[in-house]
Amino acid sequence: MFNFSKLDIPVIQAPMAGGINNPRLASEVSNAGGVGSFGFSYSTPQKISEDLAATKALTNGPINANFFVFSPVDLPAQAIQEKAIQAIKNLPIESDYSVSIPQAPFYPDIEEQLNPVWKHCPAILTFHFGIPSLSIIEKAHSLGIAIGITATSLKEAKAVEKAGADFIVAQGIEAGGHRGMFNPDEVDEKLSTIDLTKLLVGGCSIPVVAAGAIMDGADIANALKSGAVAAQLGTAFLCCEESSASPAHKEYLLHHHSRGSVFTRGFSGRPARGIDNEFIQLMDGKIVLPFPIQNTMTASLRQVAGKTNNGEYQSLWAGQDYSRTRKLNAQNLMLVLKEELLIALS
Ligand SMILES: Cc1cc2nc3c(=O)[nH]c(=O)nc-3n(C[C@H](O)[C@H](O)[C@H](O)COP(=O)(O)O)c2cc1C
Repeated sequence: MFNFSKLDIPVIQAPMAGGINNPRLASEVSNAGGVGSFGFSYSTPQKISEDLAATKALTNGPINANFFVFSPVDLPAQAIQEKAIQAIKNLPIESDYSVSIPQAPFYPDIEEQLNPVWKHCPAILTFHFGIPSLSIIEKAHSLGIAIGITATSLKEAKAVEKAGADFIVAQGIEAGGHRGMFNPDEVDEKLSTIDLTKLLVGGCSIPVVAAGAIMDGADIANALKSGAVAAQLGTAFLCCEESSASPAHKEYLLHHHSRGSVFTRGFSGRPARGIDNEFIQLMDGKIVLPFPIQNTMTASLRQVAGKTNNGEYQSLWAGQDYSRTRKLNAQNLMLVLKEELLIALS
């Protein structure tokens, strides 16, 4: 199964849903000696197949395909739906956008999404928000694909280990994007990346990858010293020339440092960390529908904000230390991370 010690640089470029990952970014990271990833979350099987095929044409190195484990969800009562719709409709944005309650099914069929994975066989398959079925884990293993699953607590990590996964992604509270908790309504222990990594390394027997506010080689060294086999970096790659993050997202990461990053359920219905903006402020305390119904409901608004380059109404996912994001191409970022790591370890 996957051997992290064989990586030239112990770095996974994080899977990042929302069209940020692409074959160029993933292959550059993989060719530079790390693991390139795709956050396929809501992607269609056709898009997944195209991305994996295009990436395979650009690299022979390791690639990670990542999926959300959606939980069954029902629409709440009519009165709640109306309040949630009004909260989005009342936002003071001038552009036209539509808000309506989506129809079931509310999320893609994971079995269909995985068909292209079985065909293209990336080295790694990872999951966020929970544990996939045993048949998926067995199928991956029969094809030599390693399985990784996000955990935010020792309880989740033990369940990941018991399910037969090959490694755990320890996601600290500093991490950008969606919090990978299995049940977002449970109490969040909010452990830091380093504390969680140490806890999981001590409490589990499978390898642990650390994720959350790892921005440079010294941070990677700290993760390794805490027992991690590798570090998963998301925010650090967002401003790479190859990243498909929107121009506003890149601009805020590089220049709007006083904002800070905060958690909101406003965009998707699940807690996710992003740069504080008008949408997050105005949605604070408002009724939101469950994940991913809220995500579909805010899609038109987010698309309009993207087209008009309005960063105040986009989900600008970013980790706690986003002010340290560098504007380098992926290959140079990997080289710099390696140099910094070697210095920190020497
Ligand atoms: C823009 C963005 C999108 C993300 N999307 C996903 C995703 O689709 N799947 C996933 O497992 N993690 C996702 N994450 C979380 C990352 O896997 C990782 O936990 C996080 O980036 C680590 O924190 P950092 O951003 O400070 O490096 C996302 C993170 C960001 C910043």
